[in-house]
Amino acid sequence: MSRRIPMNKTATQSNAKIMICLFVLSIALLLWIGCKKQQERSTTEMEKAESAEASAPQWTIGMSQCNLGEPWRVQMNLDVKNEAEKHPELKVVFKDAQNDSLKQRSQIEEFINAGTDLIIVSPKEAAPLTQPVAAAYDSGIPVIVLDRRVLGEKYTCFIGADNKKIGRAAGEWIVERLGGQGRVVELKGLMTSTPGQDRHIGFREGIEGSGIEIIFEADMKWLEPEARKEMESALARFEIIDLVYAHNDPGAHGAYLAAKAAGREEDIIFVGIDALPHEGQIYVKQGILEASFEYPTGGREAIQIAREIFSGKEIEKEIVLSSRVFTRENIDQGGEWLR
Ligand code: FRU
Repeated sequence: MSRRIPMNKTATQSNAKIMICLFVLSIALLLWIGCKKQQERSTTEMEKAESAEASAPQWTIGMSQCNLGEPWRVQMNLDVKNEAEKHPELKVVFKDAQNDSLKQRSQIEEFINAGTDLIIVSPKEAAPLTQPVAAAYDSGIPVIVLDRRVLGEKYTCFIGADNKKIGRAAGEWIVERLGGQGRVVELKGLMTSTPGQDRHIGFREGIEGSGIEIIFEADMKWLEPEARKEMESALARFEIIDLVYAHNDPGAHGAYLAAKAAGREEDIIFVGIDALPHEGQIYVKQGILEASFEYPTGGREAIQIAREIFSGKEIEKEIVLSSRVFTRENIDQGGEWLR
């Protein structure tokens, strides 16, 4: 028979006290854990907010592109975008002026009014864009002018390749290729834009003193369909055309298409400028062009310079990019640098 052992009164009381203590302790522990979690949560939220702030754009760059209807300009915008994306503190607002100088003028004014931190502009024409660029510069907004120039000195930095040098190199290459004489068509870029003027002047210097005769010249305004139309006129007027020098690759390609339609493409040599890997360089590989002179877009460099300006660094007023010539002979070796 089992016997219940009676507990004495003091033992029962101290057990109850222990239980109460344990209960109070566990409540305190639970409260402490709760607080700690809450604290941790708010620290991570703060950290998150801080890092979002650090990666949020602090600088807005306005990019005014004169015409996105041309492959070279699509590439320029892409070069700007790819470089800017490496720097979360930068935000680029792109505007396309659709080959309209008046529209491009308003775009610059819009950027000024919006308090943009810096403007990159690749102007359609020099004269019409000079005043708004100067106004931005005077109001304290740094302006980087890319590829085509404006008039005067009221901008922060110009970035572009040397178009006179490219034109001269093309002229010298053509003199050599034609053995010092021949009948040449020159299809010029828009002559109210500085690369058109410089590629023309340089070319004429390059052929000076040779027996090269310019039998036909026309402004194809940088556009392939215009070049094709002008070349149709040249073909109709001249039975012998040895070579076409076009101020850009779309122009040279337009001329080639016109010659092909007339069954005369085999008799003519085509030379262009730009040498984009997916345009001019392909034409050279396909044998459509015999040479294309590289014209780098400067998009990547524009963002690099913008960052230097934001960091307060002194920058050069003029940045000249180098270029290469691509021919059938050297294209597989990556072209040859112009000296
Ligand atoms: C594109 C383009 C290029 C040329 C450059 C000159 O608009 O015509 O083909 O090299 O502009 O500014």
